[in-house]
Amino acid sequence: MADPGLALRRKSRLGSARKRGRPPAPPRHGPAASPLAAKKPGGVCAAETPCSNDSEEDLFGDYDSFYGNDSLLAQIGDAERKYLQDEDMDVKAAKDTILQPGIHQKKQNNIFTSEPDKEDGFQMNENECVDISPEPSESVLDELPSSQLLYFAKMDEFSSGSRMHAGTEKEVKCTGSSSHKIRSPSTLCPDVEHRNRTTDFSSDSKCDVLKTESLKDHLKSAMTGNAKAQTPQVSKTKQLKEAVLIEEISVARKTIESSSVDIGPFYGLPSKVKDLLRHFRGIETLYEWQHDCLTLESLQQRKNLIYSLPTSGGKTLVAEIIILQELLCRQKDVLMILPYVAIVQEKIRALSSFGIELGFLVEEYAGSKGRFPPIKRRIKKSLYIATIEKGHALVNSLIETKRIDDLGLIVVDELHMLGEGSRGATLEITLAKILYTSKNTQIIGMSATLNNVGDLQKFLQAEYYTNNFRPVELKEYIKIRDTIYTVDSKTENGFTFSRLLNFKYSSDLEKVDPDHIIALVTEVIPKYSCLIFCPTKKNCENVASMVCKYLSKEFRVHKEKEKQDLIKNLKSIGNGSICPILKQTIPFGVVYHHSGLTNDERKSIEEAYSAGVLCLIACTATLAAGVNLPARRVILRAPYVASDFLKKNQYKQMVGRAGRAGIDSAGESILIVQEKDRHLVQDLVHSPLENCYSNLLLELTKGMQSLLLSLVGLKIAVTYEEVNNFMHNTLLGVQQQLLPKEKSLLEIIKDGLENLIEKGLLKGRISEKDHNFKCVLTVTPLGKATYKGSVDLAYCNLLYRELKKGLEGLVLESNLHLLYLATPYDMTSNCSPDWMIYLRQFSQLSAAEQKVADIVGVPESFIIKKASGQAIRKKVDSAVVNRLYLSLVLYTLLKETNVWSVSEKFNMSRGYVQNLLSSAASFASCVLHFCEELEEFWVYKALLTELTKQLTYCVKTELIPLMEVAGVLEARAKQLYNAGYKTLAHLANADPETLVKMIEHLSRRQAKQIVSSAKMLLSEKAEALQEEVEELLKMPTDIPGTY
Ligand SMILES: Nc1ncnc2c1ncn2[C@@H]1O[C@H](COP(=O)(O)OP(=O)(O)OP(=O)(O)O)[C@@H](O)[C@H]1O
Ligand SMILES: [Mg+2]
Repeated sequence: MADPGLALRRKSRLGSARKRGRPPAPPRHGPAASPLAAKKPGGVCAAETPCSNDSEEDLFGDYDSFYGNDSLLAQIGDAERKYLQDEDMDVKAAKDTILQPGIHQKKQNNIFTSEPDKEDGFQMNENECVDISPEPSESVLDELPSSQLLYFAKMDEFSSGSRMHAGTEKEVKCTGSSSHKIRSPSTLCPDVEHRNRTTDFSSDSKCDVLKTESLKDHLKSAMTGNAKAQTPQVSKTKQLKEAVLIEEISVARKTIESSSVDIGPFYGLPSKVKDLLRHFRGIETLYEWQHDCLTLESLQQRKNLIYSLPTSGGKTLVAEIIILQELLCRQKDVLMILPYVAIVQEKIRALSSFGIELGFLVEEYAGSKGRFPPIKRRIKKSLYIATIEKGHALVNSLIETKRIDDLGLIVVDELHMLGEGSRGATLEITLAKILYTSKNTQIIGMSATLNNVGDLQKFLQAEYYTNNFRPVELKEYIKIRDTIYTVDSKTENGFTFSRLLNFKYSSDLEKVDPDHIIALVTEVIPKYSCLIFCPTKKNCENVASMVCKYLSKEFRVHKEKEKQDLIKNLKSIGNGSICPILKQTIPFGVVYHHSGLTNDERKSIEEAYSAGVLCLIACTATLAAGVNLPARRVILRAPYVASDFLKKNQYKQMVGRAGRAGIDSAGESILIVQEKDRHLVQDLVHSPLENCYSNLLLELTKGMQSLLLSLVGLKIAVTYEEVNNFMHNTLLGVQQQLLPKEKSLLEIIKDGLENLIEKGLLKGRISEKDHNFKCVLTVTPLGKATYKGSVDLAYCNLLYRELKKGLEGLVLESNLHLLYLATPYDMTSNCSPDWMIYLRQFSQLSAAEQKVADIVGVPESFIIKKASGQAIRKKVDSAVVNRLYLSLVLYTLLKETNVWSVSEKFNMSRGYVQNLLSSAASFASCVLHFCEELEEFWVYKALLTELTKQLTYCVKTELIPLMEVAGVLEARAKQLYNAGYKTLAHLANADPETLVKMIEHLSRRQAKQIVSSAKMLLSEKAEALQEEVEELLKMPTDIPGTY
């Protein structure tokens, strides 16, 4: 159980805990001295309620943009190159696949062979077997970029030549391979006869059967046929491997159904999975702990599981293997919840290629993307990758449509987020609903920073696995003056002397760099990489500039050309402008990184750092969690995040970035400490990780009230009694002894339900009398619209009133009025308009647009007086004034589609402007769902559908189809468009090699990911249409007069 002492200490926690690096929010006030206490008991807290779209705004908030799997870029690049050179491996890998069955669990630990000739077993060679794929049709050719056409012409020449020379020989090899298959040991396959029949591919008729097998195959072969350069021929080897794959999946499925012993080729999965891991990730063998975890008895029995390992321990891979087992073997859909939009998009890109190869769909649920309920697929299973908010909405829609049992597994990365603000509350609600409504949905959660695991285990009814494994040892140091100490929690002091920092400082240098940061970084850069975590954004910029001023010229020489390329790239991203600080620091390999940069800028910087072009990033704490940008040395500029003293979890996440697996033999962290903070740092060293507490009460409107409303709305629990039962199974229920004494959980629930009835969201009666304990509650249309639209209960009545008012006189001369309605309420409280800019922008509006200001309640006279500094007597709602100001920013953005010019016009950071845009897109889609539930708002549906689309992309219309592909941002979309890749089909059929040649600053790995994601999206869209067609044509079973 949670330590109440700690719980009480946490009371002083500031709102900024939700977002590291943010200026602190005012302390939470409340009657209770408990970590679970509500901010405002029973009430509605409009102004104080924090942001509603937390994980949607991460791209731009202080949790910036994170990307996985970059640490092994170099290795992957090598592996890919090797892979491309290897002409024979297809057939060999196929043989290996066939010869490997029956491997026992222990052996699977080292199941990957390191022999280069077995490197890949799934992609085809250009010159093998007979080409049976259709040629790209003329119309397709017409539309393809000229580079592709040239490439096709060359490929044709090449493949017809190679066909003549090599065709026969390879064909023999294929047949040989299939004969190996027939020799599969029967120990593994009880139905070996059957398997032999289905996998004997020596006859052409079997190939045909396979070819026409399903829409999936049809689509796949059409696309691979078009992308001739990439997979120019559908070889027999390819067919053979597909057959092996289908077979292995079927065996694995049977195995899972019939016994708990893992006897599949690769943890119950087809051996192709290990080939894919090797190819796409450069992963050769599983770590021992990964093997142990995957073979846990509890996992075999599909029990819920929490596992915890240090940062960089390789937790993701285990989750991914479990996900694949669910999708392929158990044939169930899977939901993967990740904390931030950027990580969702990165995961989509990383897993799309697996989906294409293994035949499942990967669907994005982030920002304004995602369908509710999801399309019901008949054949393929879906992996939904979602932010916390969208994951919750998805689960709601599955419960509502009684499809929750289709969800076989839910995986939550960074499980400690349960304790973080409104996102924590939403995550808790989602998991509690799953636990209550679906006994068959397995829950897996992972984290590097968990303390009160007992509470979480009880809540999730889960087993626990932990291990201290870290592939690269981490050495932690602190620096006080010029002395470096080794962190050692076993000593009373917390640290022991290690060495003195040896660096000659001139008196000038001493003044600008009193903490000797330059000495620390020059010990590692430029040969190795270094991250400096700084307390504020400004500090990041200062540190980057300061370091460069004193670096010698030699630093410029290192990767000079690549750095110039990066500058060019950033300039083109900025439409000709580049941040002056970056322009000055990049030649030294140094940059800053925080939420003031645009997504495109951050992405370019992260990629350049991963590729070794940049060696030093000064960043905010936001680059710490979940991100995979490791460094040889991590420096913490000060033990503060903004003005808050560092928490143990934050510290662990930051230092955890040190040490690149497979590259560094050791990683080290240095925390710079001033003498005055020595004792606080000693406490930090000795303290345990922070506990994870329920946020249902702290985040009242997005927590408790939202939960109660949707419990009734979704008919999960419709009486006071049922709601009570449900609540006892939440994390709050588990931790209820930490509640303030004056109110029990029962009373809190009663107050909450009564409050919802008062607000007109629920109907029914609650009273202590017994007969009302079982009285059925129902949801009102407004209540339903609120939970369906995921609208914060703090704003639902206001939103309703404003939309209603809009019906009386919506100004439709431009989209300004509509934009006002879609501007997120939660961004208004921290916006402070520049009145001169306000006035200038206002005066540029047309008369009709100026009327919008008047309608919503911002008189022109108010803006004029504010701009001229006059006193104002009339009371004007500042939330409305601010909201209109933000609408003006959005209005200008949609007109100019240029974040840079708009941020200049409004004197805001471009990162903030982008954040506003993304939050507005997300909120617009919420308002749309809200309106869909209320008949009187039918007219808004069409308007908001279009507006959401405009806000989601906010680029020239022609770039939208390209930007639908996960992770293709504006700059990349422009490059692709200009190179002739104008549609999704162009991208899905592109040859990655040609892309690399034609598009500047595009690595082979990125090109492949773009093509895979585009293929996945195209296939998903095509399948959705196909399913719609079949649904339409289906004959009803109850036609009168027929049987
Ligand atoms: N068996 C393996 N062999 C080689 N590399 C591996 C293996 N497993 C994982 N990795 C790599 O190690 C790196 C870190 O893995 P991962 O991101 O899963 O760590 P994590 O435990 O989730 O850490 P964090 O808590 O920081 O998120 C990744 O680049 C991943 O590809
Ligand atoms: Mg991780």
